[in-house]
Amino acid sequence: MLIAQISDLHIAPPGEKTLGHVPMDENLRAVVAHINALDKRPDVVVVSGDITDMGDLASARYAREMLDAFAMPYYVVPGNHDSRAAILDAFGPAHCPSGLPGFACYTVDDFAIRLIALDSIIPGAPGGELCPARLNWLAQKLNEAPDLPSFIFLHHPPMHCGVLESDADGFIGASAFAALLNQHNNILRLTCGHIHLLATSGWSGTTVSTAPSIGMRLRLDLTKSRASAFYTTPPAYQLHLLTSEGNLVTHNVFMDQPGGPYAFEPINF
Ligand SMILES: [Fe+2]
Repeated sequence: MLIAQISDLHIAPPGEKTLGHVPMDENLRAVVAHINALDKRPDVVVVSGDITDMGDLASARYAREMLDAFAMPYYVVPGNHDSRAAILDAFGPAHCPSGLPGFACYTVDDFAIRLIALDSIIPGAPGGELCPARLNWLAQKLNEAPDLPSFIFLHHPPMHCGVLESDADGFIGASAFAALLNQHNNILRLTCGHIHLLATSGWSGTTVSTAPSIGMRLRLDLTKSRASAFYTTPPAYQLHLLTSEGNLVTHNVFMDQPGGPYAFEPINF
């Protein structure tokens, strides 16, 4: 099984650039075309939040129009820049089914790996949260299939990553979330967006990874002393490959224009 992940699209309304100058709609179209053209086609695409930049319905619908060009199923969760209602409205049950009334939490059981989508947003605030209602729903889902390899995606990393965007924003309910995951050994990955940086950590018996934005890379500041700022970059995304050994291996795809590919020189050992 192959899962593609894109994140932090930050789409502006049609005809506008994100923050007035970043062509995130062009980036999204390029990413969709790139993924559709891969030699090994992903089975599914997950979109880990911040689909829109301003949370408006027009931007969400515009994002859906572009995402609908995927040649494979795709699923979305909201991020802190999104309005939950706008995402549920624009994407509907085909791409964002609500398995828990009031939230964009759901499972997808069509693949070798079970996808578990978590809605981690707090309306009007930048940080993450899993409230008791969402945690209870997750506990029920994990308990009903304890042996099924599972892949959890949500917008916010639940732990500190050493940067302002995770550590200052915070995650309410992280301790209870950690305790719940520690009761299960079938979580192949918990993957997020939000920090617009590639990061990986062990956490609560699984691996947490963050996907890059498709064109707005945050300035890495491990001193946490500077205000958040970003670079515009060519799009990047991730491919999570389930190998024959049962491991979920992540490859990072950077859509820059490198020299090559060149053959390695033969070496005589
Ligand atoms: Fe973002």
